[in-house]
Amino acid sequence: MKTNLLEICYLIGSVTFILGLKMMGNAKTARKGNLIGAAGMIIAILGTIVLFQKKEDGIVDINYQVPALIYGLIAGAILLGTIIGWMTAKKVQMTKMPELVSMFNGMGGACAALIGLMEFHNNIGHTGASIAIVLSVIIGSISFSGSVIAFLKLNGTMGQPIRLPAYNILNTLVMISVFAFGGYIVYNHLDSNMILYALFGAAIIYGVLFTIPIGGADMPVVISLLNSFTGLAAAFGGFLYDNKVMLTGGILVGSAGTLLTLIMCKAMNRPLSNVIFGAFGGGASTAGPGSDAKGSIKDIGVADLAVLLNYSKKVVIVPGYGLAVAQAQHVIHELELLLEERGVEVKYAIHPVAGRMPGHMNVLLAESNVAYEKLVEMDDINPEFEQTDVVLVVGANDVVNPAAKTDPSSPIYGMPILEVNKAKNIIINKRSMSAGYAGIDNLLFYDPKASMFFGDAKKALTDLVAELKTM
Ligand code: TAP
Repeated sequence: MKTNLLEICYLIGSVTFILGLKMMGNAKTARKGNLIGAAGMIIAILGTIVLFQKKEDGIVDINYQVPALIYGLIAGAILLGTIIGWMTAKKVQMTKMPELVSMFNGMGGACAALIGLMEFHNNIGHTGASIAIVLSVIIGSISFSGSVIAFLKLNGTMGQPIRLPAYNILNTLVMISVFAFGGYIVYNHLDSNMILYALFGAAIIYGVLFTIPIGGADMPVVISLLNSFTGLAAAFGGFLYDNKVMLTGGILVGSAGTLLTLIMCKAMNRPLSNVIFGAFGGGASTAGPGSDAKGSIKDIGVADLAVLLNYSKKVVIVPGYGLAVAQAQHVIHELELLLEERGVEVKYAIHPVAGRMPGHMNVLLAESNVAYEKLVEMDDINPEFEQTDVVLVVGANDVVNPAAKTDPSSPIYGMPILEVNKAKNIIINKRSMSAGYAGIDNLLFYDPKASMFFGDAKKALTDLVAELKTM
């Protein structure tokens, strides 16, 4: 009876994970999808605790009672984890989200590795179980240490990418030793703590070596890859315990992480190997205002810009990473409403990799209640730029860089971009002439139709709104 009930709990958990994930594909249903997935997880956890039955060689021991101390420890761990998780997630700023995801992901990897370490001695002699254990120790440990390094890079504790001498040879040697230890354990049905911990240590080192040479800005892609590793490690745990919900959850995380990694790479037009071995940013130059043969730049003051916008029919706003950094999402919405009150049509052009994580701009603008219909995807908005009077680029750079179309030597060549240079007037708000994520110059700033509106996005847009209100 208990076993059947537990299976039903796991079935509910699995179905809600799938439903939740599906609903997260749309901004309108994403919040509900998240709650449904979380509810399924609670059912699966509570079911496991309340309906647990000890089995010896597949036969249920009906006399077994879980000691009260174990229940106490589980309750304490859940309470502690919930408080820490809740408080961290509540406090985190949107721009720090990749950091939080990497830390949570690291914890998932550590759990999978610990399960493998704990279950190792109980499964000696079972080849299938040993393979699952060894793989969950390897993948979980790599995911854990890799995620910790990703976290340190994203929060600025670790600066420049670190390339150790003979990096490729060193990495290959550590990877070979990881698989050699694992293979040795499985093949010999070995019950050796020493080899097991050597495997664990080598996998942890490999996770560090794999992540340290990658630039901090490439971390979102790496985190998504590590996320898929964690899913895979959890799926091996599910296989080990014959636990359907763990298996389903692990497979969903693993496949979603892999797909996300590939989507991000495709949207940036970069192969994954290029991200892992770091090709962006190296040696690219940034130019001072008005310098050299690219031509000169114009800048525009707040009063002239207010007039230009006020007398436009159609304005398209292009949000980018700088909008998120400046936390200017509320003031940009205020600007949108003000312009619409005056009969100006306003839309937002959303590039798939604007910002630093998938859906970054959608989530940011949703925070300030921008209507979802106003956010227009790149392929739909590109044909509209020719009829646009003013395109207002706020804290975006690479996603509007024409070099992606015109310069085959550019590292972003081939990346689809928002074709803002087709608009009648291009206004670019940023603080300086510094490069964006890819570390390269942007000739858009020198376009005869372009004017720079320098300043921090929040401050500059607040001034602009104030100016418009006086008109
Ligand atoms: P970026 O190319 O990174 O440019 C952002 C610009 O914002 C910078 O040039 C910066 O110039 C400006 N900025 C920074 N702080 C600002 C502030 N307080 N006020 C106003 N401007 C500010 O951003 P993007 O165009 O959104 O492109 C995103 C990049 O990230 C792409 O290269 C993409 O491939 C990459 N990427 C994205 C993802 C995902 S999934 N979104 C994942 C990995 C990588 P100043 O310093 O002069 O102000």
